[in-house]
Amino acid sequence: MTVIVTGGAGFIGANFIYYLLNAHPDWRVVCLDKLTYAGNLSTLRGAMDRPDFRFVRLDICDRAGVYALFREEKPEIVVNFAAETHVDRSIEDPGIFLQTNVVGAGVLMDACRDLGVERFHQVSTDEVYGDLPLDRPELFFTEETPLRTSSPYSSSKAGADLLAMAYWRTYGLPVTISRCSNNYGPWQFPEKLIPLMIANCLHDKPLPVYGKGENVRDWLYVEDHCRAIDLILQKGTAGEVYNVGGHNEMRNIDIVKLICAELGKPESLITFVTDRKGHDKRYAIDPAKIHAELGWLPETKFADGLHATIRWYLEHRGWWEEIVSGEYRNYYEKMYAHR
Ligand code: NAD
Ligand code: TYD
Repeated sequence: MTVIVTGGAGFIGANFIYYLLNAHPDWRVVCLDKLTYAGNLSTLRGAMDRPDFRFVRLDICDRAGVYALFREEKPEIVVNFAAETHVDRSIEDPGIFLQTNVVGAGVLMDACRDLGVERFHQVSTDEVYGDLPLDRPELFFTEETPLRTSSPYSSSKAGADLLAMAYWRTYGLPVTISRCSNNYGPWQFPEKLIPLMIANCLHDKPLPVYGKGENVRDWLYVEDHCRAIDLILQKGTAGEVYNVGGHNEMRNIDIVKLICAELGKPESLITFVTDRKGHDKRYAIDPAKIHAELGWLPETKFADGLHATIRWYLEHRGWWEEIVSGEYRNYYEKMYAHR
């Protein structure tokens, strides 16, 4: 079995590659990644020398390159993680989000269709459902919830989902889609809430909380997400969407306070800054379908996962310090200097 994993030098894709290599020693894993600012080859160091792993630097929008790789590798499965993923960046510059997240996904699906790939899995997000109000805790996103996006990022992800469903209906391409809640864990780029707050705490820098910090996200440890995708690949039904989430809703401010407490840093580092434009209030997944049909349940409790994540960032300072000191620093100045 050969699996092509796109975007595998990023956060979830890299965790998924390690998960696959461990769970399926007889599978060959090929990672296709453009290595944008969010892709980091050092993350894959632990896989690079393995005979059952290959890394190829390639843009998913490069049609000729994608077709050549697919012809050479003849994958049975393609899992698409490759995307521009940061909501704040999408607000600044939406164009690249449309290009990679919609056009790139389309190129991959064309190649899958033309070369007879047995499964195309699109890694999507709960953000395609828009948001829920803070005062209606009984509401959750199900697979039937209409798509109602807020940001250029979520719109581009919804575009890819719609295209995938169209390829299933029109061409019979065997697609599956997973829509997961916010992930956290090792190797997450320090522009996202949890690693950014850990990094800033460790540098005794201000902790920029948007608005009042009351927005709610449903947090899932990355390994639980990887296990869900693996299950969908093996037991999921083509043409189906699966929501993935852990019923673990937290307000941003409470997460930041937990990180301060665990690192022994004062809450006075917390700085409330101008809110994100169009900021989604609450995300909450109903994972009943994947539980009932595939037997999936999250295994890592938030307290344990957050503790493990903080420890990982403490033990891998070299990895993220290098990022924080590079291109990311320019981005940070641009995003937070006048906030
Ligand atoms: P990330 O930003 O950490 O990594 C994205 C990876 O994609 C990088 O390695 C980057 O180099 C690569 N990439 C970007 N453009 C590319 C292109 N044109 N061609 C090839 N490679 C390209 O992202 P992540 O947080 O690991 O998210 C992975 C996927 O999971 C995304 O599709 C995202 O929408 C989805 N998702 C993420 C979360 C989350 O909480 N992080 C939750 C639900 C779904
Ligand atoms: P983020 O990690 O960007 O994920 P998403 O927007 O996809 O959910 O942000 C998570 C939440 O944290 C979101 O409500 C925005 C908020 N946030 C801050 O308050 N400060 C920050 O510096 C960042 C990056 C995010």
